[in-house]
Amino acid sequence: LSSIEVDLANIEPGQAVKTIWRKQPLFIRNLTADEITEANAVDVSGLRDPQTLAERTADGHENWLITLAVCTHLGCVPLGAGQGENKGEYGGYFCPCHGSHYDTAARIRKGPAPTNLVVPEYEFTSDTTVTIG
Ligand code: FES
Repeated sequence: LSSIEVDLANIEPGQAVKTIWRKQPLFIRNLTADEITEANAVDVSGLRDPQTLAERTADGHENWLITLAVCTHLGCVPLGAGQGENKGEYGGYFCPCHGSHYDTAARIRKGPAPTNLVVPEYEFTSDTTVTIG
């Protein structure tokens, strides 16, 4: 299956973009320092799908949160990437279909979704270029 290369140079901290990978929507988000702090402050043992931010990002690129934009409940596309979109109660993404709230590491925090947004395989080929898939 196909890989895509994405240039991250123009994605500002606090900004997220939506792209398409293997016919599925994908979020690429440049986390702010505050969003990273918030994600790392969570006690993962209390989470439905316990994962640290470090486990969900690449070494040395902890600010780049790359996930499928597919709610793990029934597959709607969550909000939170566009400017002014509802990021939900935990500041990440919000799925309006049945009210799933994801945090700044795109981990499920509230609502019916069973698992975190899925992190695809990817690799940084430079500081600002990533190959997904
Ligand atoms: Fe997202 Fe149901 S599809 S909450």
